[in-house]
Amino acid sequence: MSTTRSEIRFLLNGEAVALADVRPDETLLDFLRLRRSMRGTKEGCAEGDCGACTVLVGRLANGDLVYEGVNACIRFLGSLDGCHVVTIEHLKRPDGTLHPVQQAMVDFHGSQCGFCTPGFVMSLYALWMRNPSPSNYAIEKALQGNLCRCTGYEAIVKAACAVSSYGDATRDPLKTERASVLATLKEMKDGKRVKIGSGDEQLLIPADADDLARILEAEPTATIVAGSTDVGLWVTKFMRRIAPVVFVGGIDELRRISVEDDAITIGSGVSYTDAFEVLSSRISSLGPLLDRIGGEQIRNMGTIGGNIANGSPIGDMPPPLIALGARLTLRKGDSRRTVELEDFFIDYGKQDRRPGEFVEAVHIPLPKQRARFAVWKVTKRRDEDITAVLGAFNISIDSDGTVTSARIAYGGMAVTPKRARAVEAVLVGQPWTMETVEKAVGAYPSDFKPITDMRASAEYRMLVARNLLKRFFLESADSGRPLQVKRYEVMA
Ligand SMILES: Cc1cc2nc3c(=O)[nH]c(=O)nc-3n(C[C@H](O)[C@H](O)[C@H](O)COP(=O)(O)OP(=O)(O)OC[C@H]3O[C@@H](n4cnc5c(N)ncnc54)[C@H](O)[C@@H]3O)c2cc1C
Ligand code: FES
Ligand code: FES
Repeated sequence: MSTTRSEIRFLLNGEAVALADVRPDETLLDFLRLRRSMRGTKEGCAEGDCGACTVLVGRLANGDLVYEGVNACIRFLGSLDGCHVVTIEHLKRPDGTLHPVQQAMVDFHGSQCGFCTPGFVMSLYALWMRNPSPSNYAIEKALQGNLCRCTGYEAIVKAACAVSSYGDATRDPLKTERASVLATLKEMKDGKRVKIGSGDEQLLIPADADDLARILEAEPTATIVAGSTDVGLWVTKFMRRIAPVVFVGGIDELRRISVEDDAITIGSGVSYTDAFEVLSSRISSLGPLLDRIGGEQIRNMGTIGGNIANGSPIGDMPPPLIALGARLTLRKGDSRRTVELEDFFIDYGKQDRRPGEFVEAVHIPLPKQRARFAVWKVTKRRDEDITAVLGAFNISIDSDGTVTSARIAYGGMAVTPKRARAVEAVLVGQPWTMETVEKAVGAYPSDFKPITDMRASAEYRMLVARNLLKRFFLESADSGRPLQVKRYEVMA
């Protein structure tokens, strides 16, 4: 029996689809709109920002079925093998009855020009299925990745608040038909490698992690695609050729999380959404940071491994992970090596990843007992914005108030995520006082020469970097009292 298949298979609403003609860089949105003439799913930005293209994707996770909102504009068709794609067209019942979420949007005038509406409905649908009576905060979080240019948010939030009185979420078709969808997806997952096309036009989906290792040995320069929230934009915005492509999002071994007493090991394919609970419960400062990475759709797709491997100087995960002393496991064939995360970033766009190698996992030590850890992201907007400066601090202070160790790392301050070694050196061995902190502040120019760009000027970056250290001191000295308004509540 062949161990390779030359088509991808997935469920599209109620239809089983098998496709042998899939381009390696074909997006789900293009497939829906151009090949299937399903025009309910809109294209707004084509870069994962506006949410007009939101659809749900159901996937197998630990033998169960999980539905998540994703951006069809940057989701590649090849990544959907073995998944259930649910579009806006699936919501209205055959007798014309609107779905409760759609009806609430109509009744509360949640749609003005309507361009963003299908995306809002799909995001609210995903929320309603997992939380039929959400709080305002849950609604805000669910809609972080949906933009309405008519600023119709208030009406949309009111619709979201009311939707629980419109119908019973347990009677929704995705819940009532769950068992049969689950059985179909399990059948589709036949343990075979998928290979479509040849040479430079290949699309490959490994059967498992060992198969990925074999594929990359044969195709060492292939583009690895995990959540495609970076690679998707290389195609839609920069028109880059990415084939041959290897889709790794469906590899179960890369989606594992293991928790030990003093560390957490996260597979490179774990999404922000899946990492949230374990990271935020053990390292509390990471919770608010994760909540501000993209919108919900990006967090459902994007992986921590992709954020690291991409090597951006303004990626949000490397600085806190460097401050925590994280290490990467890289695999090539059957050999593995471990590198300190801070050493992985060599120069702008240059990481310590050899041809044929892939990131397998990231090992994150938990802060030590006497350590204080915090991370802050500074951006122009609170939600869905890319970092101007991000500072992470992991400082241990002994019982007589002396700094015994310091690991401080920044994003947005250099061509790579980088430690503030000169600043750390001033702090270690000194009393944890404002006087020491003021001395350390003077060492920043030895560590960083930030640039001016559209996100911030060099002067602003330097000022913010220094102030974040002062903030860390003040919060740690004042029993952890936060010095920032974290949320603005809407007055009733
Ligand atoms: C709208 C939007 C908002 C965003 N907001 C943020 C934000 O707030 N903060 C932030 O930090 N980032 C943000 N990003 C960037 C992106 O979401 C993250 O960098 C994400 O973590 C990338 O993960 P991915 O799985 O999607 O990677 P992919 O796009 O699939 O891959 C990214 C890179 O990593 C490589 N790669 C992936 N997996 C592996 C592996 N296992 N081994 C080796 N190489 C691998 C790929 O080849 C590619 O070079 C945003 C992106 C978008 C589109
Ligand atoms: S079209 Fe804007 S997020 Fe996809
Ligand atoms: S209703 Fe006009 S952009 Fe949303």
